[in-house]
Amino acid sequence: MMIDTRLATAADRRFRADVLAGLALPRKRLPSKYFYDAVGSRLFERITELPEYYPTRTELSIMHRHADAMAARCGPRCLLIELGAGALTKVRLLLDRLDAPAGFVPVDVSGEHLREAAATLADDYPALDVEPVVADFTAPFAVPEAATAERKVVYFPGSTLGNFDPQEADDLLRRIARIVGPGGGLLLGVDLRKDPAVLERAYDDAAGVTAAFNRNLLARIDRELGGDFDAESFRHVAFYDHEKSRVEMHLVTDRERRVRVRASTFDFLAGESIHTENSHKYDISELAARAQACGLRLDESWTDARDYFAVLYLTAA
Ligand code: TRP
Repeated sequence: MMIDTRLATAADRRFRADVLAGLALPRKRLPSKYFYDAVGSRLFERITELPEYYPTRTELSIMHRHADAMAARCGPRCLLIELGAGALTKVRLLLDRLDAPAGFVPVDVSGEHLREAAATLADDYPALDVEPVVADFTAPFAVPEAATAERKVVYFPGSTLGNFDPQEADDLLRRIARIVGPGGGLLLGVDLRKDPAVLERAYDDAAGVTAAFNRNLLARIDRELGGDFDAESFRHVAFYDHEKSRVEMHLVTDRERRVRVRASTFDFLAGESIHTENSHKYDISELAARAQACGLRLDESWTDARDYFAVLYLTAA
């Protein structure tokens, strides 16, 4: 065990500290950014292909229909910065139409996954300057400068904004406004309010992929931090909270137990849960008002025929 303490990177130490702090809370929580190790990133890609998980497919269809208008908003020679870059599928629709982009900067915590996806993309776009940044975008990170850039535009798809609590989401919007600077843009994909039954199915699919994705967080703690959770013994639970306008995801144990992570122990009552994720659902005009208060003005929005999902273009003041 001495070896891995010595070799632990800053990211490993942060993971451990965040896990121990979250499990010590009266209502246990784990930060959802830790879902995305190599196994989790692969499971998430399977989620995006599930019949019940409409967001990815709906956002893609909106991008297909309106990519010309979106690219026109971004303008010529823009430096495009994608936050939480996953498989880099959606952004291609934009890259195909941008007028002489100054560069593309995909940012993601999952380094291995990012480097692979960025290398594939760079092969497909030989004229494009692709500069991946391995970073946790919830903390400040350096954006490589492109001298020829006319404008910076952050691309933040997948309704990832909805995975932050309102206060954190506002902080992030303010930071994005600062990153792109006055006149810069934000192209934002957000999931909209809808029938709770549709929402709950999207986060608890019949094939159990979302359950496996959620449990992988505990498996990861067992693998990397020497925990003894035994992920399979926790139940995946997802429900819509009207008041908070969000889907909550939890991992629940049905029996009283004690879990060990390294030298720390955590006691669970029968039925106690670990809250692992929120996915907030939005109303376009409410979100536009909040963004405005964070220095981002809504210029245009695009939705699908069912109004399930929206892509917004906002400009920094
Ligand atoms: N941003 C995605 C969402 O809120 C992330 C996500 C989809 C997710 N399915 C999940 C996170 C299941 C945790 C568990 O829709």
